[in-house]
Amino acid sequence: MRKYIFQKLDSTNDFLKQKKDIMEYDLIIAETQTAGRGRRGNEWKSDKGAALFSFSLAPNRALKFEEYRKLPLITGLAVLNALRAISDLDCMFKWTNDVYTKNKKISGLLIEFTGEFFIIGIGINVNNRNLGELSHKATSLILETEKEYNIDEVIEKVIIEFKILQSRFLRGEWNLIRNEINMINYLKGKSIRVEHLGKIDRGVAGDIVEDGMLEVKLESGKIKNFDVGEIHIEF
Ligand code: BTN
Repeated sequence: MRKYIFQKLDSTNDFLKQKKDIMEYDLIIAETQTAGRGRRGNEWKSDKGAALFSFSLAPNRALKFEEYRKLPLITGLAVLNALRAISDLDCMFKWTNDVYTKNKKISGLLIEFTGEFFIIGIGINVNNRNLGELSHKATSLILETEKEYNIDEVIEKVIIEFKILQSRFLRGEWNLIRNEINMINYLKGKSIRVEHLGKIDRGVAGDIVEDGMLEVKLESGKIKNFDVGEIHIEF
């Protein structure tokens, strides 16, 4: 694994996407980002003290490409397992891309595809205390535990956990992994509003099902599964 550390970048995802000689598991870390990106065109803003990193993953040719729709779920579980190991913090996975603790977001993922590699971008609020206008809905490890963490160790642990899950996934253990994700499924039982392709549905979230979709019991009583794709959830 090649590791590149920068004091400041626009975005670790963008840097890795533009890297000419990109290889699998190249890891880009930045202390700060000037144009950190979140999903759906949102910004990701964080002060110094957050873990901001991206790494590349080559799709395995033995797997159908659709299988990679599960990648955000596997990555989310990797972040969560790392945070639990490092801090004992009780975290939940908010389908499809966020890690929550005590009803506040502590980490977000942005996964992109270059045509050759997946770029797995992860932001974790670690030693940053000032979350500005997001402080009512975001938190950090230091705010929750009053301890300071070694950011490199946090990142290393996430990568270790990711590699473990990735090899389990390739060995065909998706259903076991999915059960683990369902045990920490933040949305389960919550009333949600799902916006998908301009259409809004309301209902109660259920489990993450076999293909990685989220099962929702709509107000009409009908069960509908939502895809991991471009979807916006409010609750
Ligand atoms: C989200 O919450 O919508 C996803 C946020 C992802 C942020 C991380 S920070 C490191 C990497 N570089 C980026 O520009 N974005 C991701």
